[in-house]
Amino acid sequence: MAERYFEGQVAVVTGAAGTLCSEVSRELARRGAKVALVGRTLTALEQVAEDIRQEGGTALALAADVTDAVAVEAARRMIAERLGTCRFLVNGAGGNQAAASTETTVFEAGELDGGAADGARGFFNLGLDAVEAVILANTLGTFIPCQVFGREMAASGRGSILNFASMNSYRPLTRVPAYAMAKAGIVNFTQWLAVYLAPAGIRVNAVAPGFFVNCRSRKILMTPEGGLSPRGDKVMSHTPAGRFGEAGDLLGCVCWLLDDGQAAFVTGVTVPVDGGFMAASGV
Ligand SMILES: NC(=O)c1ccc[n+]([C@@H]2O[C@H](COP(=O)([O-])OP(=O)(O)OC[C@H]3O[C@@H](n4cnc5c(N)ncnc54)[C@H](OP(=O)(O)O)[C@@H]3O)[C@@H](O)[C@H]2O)c1
Repeated sequence: MAERYFEGQVAVVTGAAGTLCSEVSRELARRGAKVALVGRTLTALEQVAEDIRQEGGTALALAADVTDAVAVEAARRMIAERLGTCRFLVNGAGGNQAAASTETTVFEAGELDGGAADGARGFFNLGLDAVEAVILANTLGTFIPCQVFGREMAASGRGSILNFASMNSYRPLTRVPAYAMAKAGIVNFTQWLAVYLAPAGIRVNAVAPGFFVNCRSRKILMTPEGGLSPRGDKVMSHTPAGRFGEAGDLLGCVCWLLDDGQAAFVTGVTVPVDGGFMAASGV
């Protein structure tokens, strides 16, 4: 049985129906937290809430777009009324979009005339709407909940925030310039906010997952038959652990960073959970 060191505390998790944060939400509930599940698709959130209730936990599902400050504030009011003051915030909402990614890894002259070889999308063919949406979701989508729930934490004199960075935060992967730029910003913002909120009794940290297969990345990393795609093969050859991550691999790190009992003196850090990807030079 999991040690219940979050007993009765309110944890707000954004992106809570996603591959990683649905598991994070379940784990926080197992450790005694009352979990508010935030995302845009209520039916998916309700499913996670139901799982938590079936295990005897407390969960509240709320639909809100994390880039919409008014919607996030409305969610905060509802959470405060139904569960209590937010003690933990996990900013898991985010991700990339295909339309904000190049299909080429380096410049090809053809992209100046509309598309590279076989009409592939290059940097000069990226549409700004998709680029803007990815940057907003992965930057303001963390900034806004930090403002909304951080204010409540500051008023109560304690709290802990966990952001989601990426391998792209350290060195950009090919093809994903908007996502990489946004996730680099998360490490910087995590440090900034940790310094700013320390006098308020709030710690701010981040986790940087390596490669975890989700609905989107499955198409990129794997073949339809379940083997490795060429990109998946490249990732695997740079991952000393020799496998993709599974949501459960994150839980120890997430709980450690959130818990004052274990990490009271840890703030402003980003911890890679990546099977050694960051350490491997590839040579
Ligand atoms: N999987 C990986 O390998 C990996 C690696 C590094 C970092 N990360 C980061 O880890 C986090 C979780 O990733 P994941 O793999 O679990 O992704 P996921 O399965 O796509 O889950 C992301 C969740 O965020 C929600 N979301 C997206 N935009 C939102 C918005 N504007 N407002 C509210 N909710 C929003 C989505 O739900 P709705 O669409 O219903 O709102 C979705 O449930 C993300 O920040 C991702 O960038 C993932």
